[in-house]
Formats: sequence, C-alpha cells, structure tokens
Amino acid sequence: MITTETRESELASGGIAAVESVTAIAEVTTMGAIVQEKYGTAEVLELRDIDKPDIGDHDVQVRVRAAAVNPADWAPVRGTDVAGEVEAVGASVTRFQPGDEVFGWSGRLGGAFAEYASVTEDALVHKPANLTFEQAAAVPMAATVALLAVRDHGRVRAGQKVLVNGASGGIGTFAVQIAKSLGAEVTGVCSTSNVDLVRSIGADHVIDYTKEDFTRTGQRYDFILDNVSNRSLSDLRRALTPKGTLVPNGGGFDHRWVAGGGRLIRAKLSFAFGSRSVRTFIASPKQEILVALKELIETGKVTPIIDRTYRLSETRQAIDHVGGGHARGKVVITVIKAVTS
Ligand SMILES: NC(=O)c1ccc[n+]([C@@H]2O[C@H](COP(=O)([O-])OP(=O)(O)OC[C@H]3O[C@@H](n4cnc5c(N)ncnc54)[C@H](OP(=O)(O)O)[C@@H]3O)[C@@H](O)[C@H]2O)c1
Repeated sequence: MITTETRESELASGGIAAVESVTAIAEVTTMGAIVQEKYGTAEVLELRDIDKPDIGDHDVQVRVRAAAVNPADWAPVRGTDVAGEVEAVGASVTRFQPGDEVFGWSGRLGGAFAEYASVTEDALVHKPANLTFEQAAAVPMAATVALLAVRDHGRVRAGQKVLVNGASGGIGTFAVQIAKSLGAEVTGVCSTSNVDLVRSIGADHVIDYTKEDFTRTGQRYDFILDNVSNRSLSDLRRALTPKGTLVPNGGGFDHRWVAGGGRLIRAKLSFAFGSRSVRTFIASPKQEILVALKELIETGKVTPIIDRTYRLSETRQAIDHVGGGHARGKVVITVIKAVTS
C-alpha cells in the first residue's frame, strides 16, 4: 500500500516549521513526537522522528488528532490528554476497533504529543459525537479534576453556593459548568478580561479579582474549589459556611503539580479543628469518569472551552503559554491528519 502523508516535518532539522509531502511504502513504523533527552523546562523539548509506540494486549494505538496541554506538562512526563482515531488494537481489546474516534488519558508515561499514542483500553472512551478532536482532547484531565472536586469531594447539591477560584482556566471552566449542571449557585473568580467568558459558561456571579477579594465580601460558600492558591488558609476558611468544604487544588503557577505538601498539611490541620472540611486528591484515569463527562457533554451541559490551538512543532510555545498561568480554558495541540491516497 502506498500512503501519502502530509505532515509537519521539521523533525530534527532545527525546529523550522514546514509542511511537506512524505511518500512511504508499506507500513509506517516511525512517527513525529515531542521528546526530551534531559530534564528541564519546555526548552528541552524537540520534535523528532522516533519509533511508533508498541501496544500490549490491552492497549489501543491511537492516531493522534489532538492533545491538550496541562500545567503538569512542565514535568518530565508530557502529553496526557489525547483524542484521535484507533489505528490498531491489542489482542485482548474488546471495546474498540480500528477507525473508532476516541478520547482519554494517554499511556502510563504521557506521550500524546506525537502522531501516535499507546493508550490502555481502560483509559479511553468513544469521542462525544458533538465535539471536534480538539475539544475532546481538552476534556480528560481538566474535566476529571473538576468532576471529582465538585461532584465527589464537594458533594455539591442544588441550591448550594459554590465558588471557583481560577474560573477561567482549564479546570475552572469545566468546574463552573459542572456545578451549574448540579443546580448550584456559582460564583467564578477571574481577571477583568475573562469576566464575560466566565459569565457565558453559566456563572451566576463573577468576581474580578483585580477589583475585589472574594474572601472579604462577607459572602460565604458551601464549597470552594481553589485552582490558584493565592489566598491564605484563614481567608479561605472565613469564606466558607460553617459546614463548607474546600478543595485546595492549585499549586500556584510555579509549575508544581498540586499544592505543596506543607500547605496541604497545614490546611488539613487548620480545618480539622472546625466543622469545615478540606479535601485533596490527585486525579488519575478512570473510564467511568470519562463516561460521565461524555454524557454531560452530549446533553449540552458541559462544553469544552478552547483558548487556542498550536501545531505539534509549537508544543514548547503551548506549554509556555499554559505555564504563564493565564490560559482561557484549554490549550490544545493539533496533530495534522494523514491524507491517504
Ligand atoms: N488535583 C489534580 O489531580 C490536578 C490535576 C491537574 C492540575 N492540577 C492543578 O490545578 C491547578 C489549575 O490547573 P488549570 O489547568 O486549571 O490551570 P490553568 O488552565 O493554567 O488556569 C489558570 C487560571 O488561573 C487564573 N488565575 C491566575 N491568577 C489568578 C488570581 N490571582 N486569581 C484568580 N485566578 C487567577 C487564570 O485566570 P486569569 O487569566 O483571569 O488571571 C487562569 O484562568 C494547577 O495548579 C494544577 O497544577 C491539579
């Protein structure tokens, strides 16, 4: 079979973006992928040609169409969120077949910033029909964190007052919509330029943090999801109702995964003495969560918000943009589709 692919091809050639036609005979065994050979920030990333990933019996090889960027992509493991088409399946895979459109959590070690990704069957779900690949790639990690925080840890119910600090970011834009879908009265906190965005995704009230400190308005909330960590624990405590719950999800924007251990321990201790509670967690791939998110998306209750898309060759810039701490929704890498003749 002769396959003609149009693909980005600055591979190992100094990083100059160019699109060229590549004619390959028989099966293509290599792929373009973002790799790093030393530890460091996004500057160490390079687009290279490497072998396509192997798949085990329970794995699915996904032809990546889009991958999203998370703050965690500053860490050595990069590229968790993936959306694409199933290329091949392992011997024991039962739920997917070649050609299926899917989204989920890529591999045990990241790897979605590539033309192909190996994904365990349990971390994938069929793509919602009403989403593009870019929108679907935006969902897995950020929306999983939002759903776990709001629904499972916050146990948010209809009529409760919910506040989302960092409401315009990747997790925040999902959390606002999920809390609204549960019937809560939602307040989003963001900067001036994002007030309209946060209102447009359903927030009942929006606090512009450049003008007002949400911990000093006198308003109390049943649940606070803090994606930013820029307020003291005593301030956050004051903004909670006597039985309120805090999820201190953010680690600030110094590229740490979640809030530093010291802050978490202090939070646990200071909240343990009162009736308020503090809940922390680290999200991991769960198929049932992806199924729940797919349902929220297909029923129109949740729509992924895309800040902007980058090409695979621009992954460094995409990670830098997210690392700046002011993404508007999700930042997504578009991986150019192969054209078969
Ligand atoms: N628990 C887990 O398993 C887990 C998983 C993934 C991520 N996380 C953590 O969750 C946090 C948020 O992630 P994300 O993906 O939502 O980040 P993100 O997409 O980079 O969002 C950042 C948002 O924070 C807002 N922000 C910045 N400074 C602010 C301030 N002073 N006050 C209020 N908002 C402010 C920004 O809004 P403006 O532009 O309007 O300022 C932006 O919308 C990160 O710390 C990340 O490490 C945790």
